[in-house]
Amino acid sequence: MDFGIKFGTPEKQRGACAVVGIFESRKMTESAKVLDKITQGHIKNILTSGDIDGKVNTSLLLHNVPGTQFKRILLIGLGKEQEFNEKIFLAVINSTLNALHKTAVADVMLFLSDFPNKVRTNDWKISQTVIATISSIYRFDQLKSKPENNQSKLRKILFCIDTQEELIACEQAMQQSLAIAHGMNLTKDLGNLAPNICTPTYLATQAKDLAKTYKLKASILDEKDMEKLGMGSLLSVARGSEQPAKLIVLEYYGLGKKEHPIVLVGKGVTFDTGGISLKPAAEMDEMKFDMSGAGSVLGTMLAVAELRLPINLVAIIPATENMPSGNATKPGDVVTSMSGQTIEILNTDAEGRLILCDALTYAERYNPKIVIDIATLTGACVIALGNLTTGLMSNDDKLAQELLEAGEQAADRAWQLPLWDEYQDLLKSNFADIANIGGRTAGTITAACFLSRFTKKYRWAHLDIAGTAWKSGKDKGASGRPVPLLTQFLIAQSRASS
Ligand code: BES
Ligand code: MN
Ligand code: ZN
Repeated sequence: MDFGIKFGTPEKQRGACAVVGIFESRKMTESAKVLDKITQGHIKNILTSGDIDGKVNTSLLLHNVPGTQFKRILLIGLGKEQEFNEKIFLAVINSTLNALHKTAVADVMLFLSDFPNKVRTNDWKISQTVIATISSIYRFDQLKSKPENNQSKLRKILFCIDTQEELIACEQAMQQSLAIAHGMNLTKDLGNLAPNICTPTYLATQAKDLAKTYKLKASILDEKDMEKLGMGSLLSVARGSEQPAKLIVLEYYGLGKKEHPIVLVGKGVTFDTGGISLKPAAEMDEMKFDMSGAGSVLGTMLAVAELRLPINLVAIIPATENMPSGNATKPGDVVTSMSGQTIEILNTDAEGRLILCDALTYAERYNPKIVIDIATLTGACVIALGNLTTGLMSNDDKLAQELLEAGEQAADRAWQLPLWDEYQDLLKSNFADIANIGGRTAGTITAACFLSRFTKKYRWAHLDIAGTAWKSGKDKGASGRPVPLLTQFLIAQSRASS
């Protein structure tokens, strides 16, 4: 897919297809008026016919419109002009893409002045369109015997802007969103892969490939290395599995090596059966997505490396399966984490925190400026926030705020939950320093409380992506989130530090 930015007004342009907005009811945008004029009222005639009145999610494809240099014109409903907002913009872009994918159109021009500027600037509109376009042509057919024959013909989108001052910001937004989309595609592929293929070893190979392509440093620690480091908590999750666990580390240096890095830690449970605390059978297949935190860390690393952002970034991925077996950890087992704290494992299905805690302790050796962990950690988060919003908890309110803003900017939103000390009591154990579960209440917060016991030495935030990393139902599949939020955050960090 190609994107480009052009400067100028519609009458001077040519191409296979122009997309032109219509407000409700039958109100022409500026670009529609210009095209109407050079076509001697053709568009107005169509509007009078009543075939399109401007409602959102409607469109009308016109062929051979006399007097223009476009082969086709796609009229697209924008809804009521006063009500136009971000949400409607995104809906309009999706309905435009749907309409275009049904045609044989290969290249298309969008006039950004059609979309009222009151909410967002053109660079934002370009970012969102680039990401939506690449998402709309994403297919995961590598495991089908024959590729599906439903590929779109769309190859190029040109954005037409009308003031030259915006050009630099728009071009930068285009580059950044392309990198985000590439990162999301990697994250989606890893999430969608079957769990017999996407094992901890496979994730390690993917990380090494990424390192080769982008000249990163990759280190893969195996179970022996982890034993030497005292990662008894991580290893307790891997005990039931035939697949060896891996601790995957990638290092990217966009600044001198002395600069403190930002560390991303991603939960890489390549399949979560629950272990001895076995999950019910229904929809257990979806637990192949339990490595989505790891996938999003790799996707973000790709985006950052592609953009050569001036930051230092370290990715740490604890990767394992969570399986039941004669060797598996049992409820009641007590293990010793790398930090020295002992943990009573009351439920083997609360395994994410058990692997993350050792990875978070390992992160200390990088003297990190900031550590962010990303994990499909709790079903409770899905209950609290649904599939729209990522749960955010942090020991640093400024960091939390910066992440919330990045999510807002990237249309990949998070919402903060409290991490007050009072919640810590729920993790009391009679037999060890800490239990791995709280009670039935506040499950997302108690999971973060558990992690917070291991993050006292640095500024830290936790993203619970249990609801946002994938979609279930008919559109079952990985979403590529929160690569946009994370990359946006890192772009903002790179600006702040340069
Ligand atoms: N991977 C799951 C969390 C999850 C559940 C993600 C549903 C997406 C959808 C995690 O390992 C888990 O099993 N958590 C338990 C914790 C509980 C035992 C305290 C949960 O949420 O039920
Ligand atoms: Mn689990
Ligand atoms: Zn899990």
